[in-house]
Amino acid sequence: MRKKLSVILTGDHEESCSIVAGLVAEVVVRGDVCLGLATGGSMEGVYAELRRRHDAEGLSFRSVATVNLDEYVGLEPSHVQSYRHYMDHKLFDHVDIDKARTCVPRGTLPRDKMLEEFQGFLDSRPRDLQLLGLGSNGHIGFNEPAPFFAPWAHVVTLEEGTRRDNQRFFSSLDEVPSQAVTMGIGDILNAARIVLLVHGPSKAEPLRALLQDDRVCPEVPCTALKLHPDVVVVVDRGLARLAGVEKECAGLAGEEIDDGQKRR
Ligand code: F6R
Repeated sequence: MRKKLSVILTGDHEESCSIVAGLVAEVVVRGDVCLGLATGGSMEGVYAELRRRHDAEGLSFRSVATVNLDEYVGLEPSHVQSYRHYMDHKLFDHVDIDKARTCVPRGTLPRDKMLEEFQGFLDSRPRDLQLLGLGSNGHIGFNEPAPFFAPWAHVVTLEEGTRRDNQRFFSSLDEVPSQAVTMGIGDILNAARIVLLVHGPSKAEPLRALLQDDRVCPEVPCTALKLHPDVVVVVDRGLARLAGVEKECAGLAGEEIDDGQKRR
């Protein structure tokens, strides 16, 4: 039977982060796995919880490989707002991962080399789990709304709204890069399992487009997730209410697990 998206409704974003970290940890303990990782404000709590599990519970990343969704074009890896810096700072430098097995696309390479290197890594390692955040325009990775889906790694010009959303991490809008390199929609859908963490009122509209019907439209890129057989959406009740999708969430709820949380 066709599997649908499943939804885990939480009390708040902190609980969402803890549940997402738990879903990541479930994969990490299998050993010799590859994780697709995301950055952004929504994910900070997930990495904090993974660090906590590493320190307090001995969760080991020794045999884990990772690949990130995207990177700004033109930012050196050492730039404080580069996604390489984000990953080092928020996770890699605090756990027992072998950084040689972590790939964040290199946004300062010549374009052909950058895409070849990134796509080469993606094609060489199937991802066991892909983490995603959601843009307020519905983007996943940096796949912005467009008349078509771009399947593989590509360079994208960021929408003004995306740059404005990310301005909070920079000192001015002018400093936010105008281009990024991102996994394509096909790369994202190639992961065995996808976990989408939705946080913040600006995500209500794309969340509704994802959950309220069966339409897949490149103008709202996250709707491509309806084509994947194993997607878990983690969202807090307040946001589900704001988006008017509580009924849809209840219909897509996962099974109960021991601690009363919902999952597929
Ligand atoms: C980041 C990424 C983006 C973000 C999205 C949400 O690597 O791929 O799609 O996940 O823009 O960002 P926040 O969490 O800052 O709202």
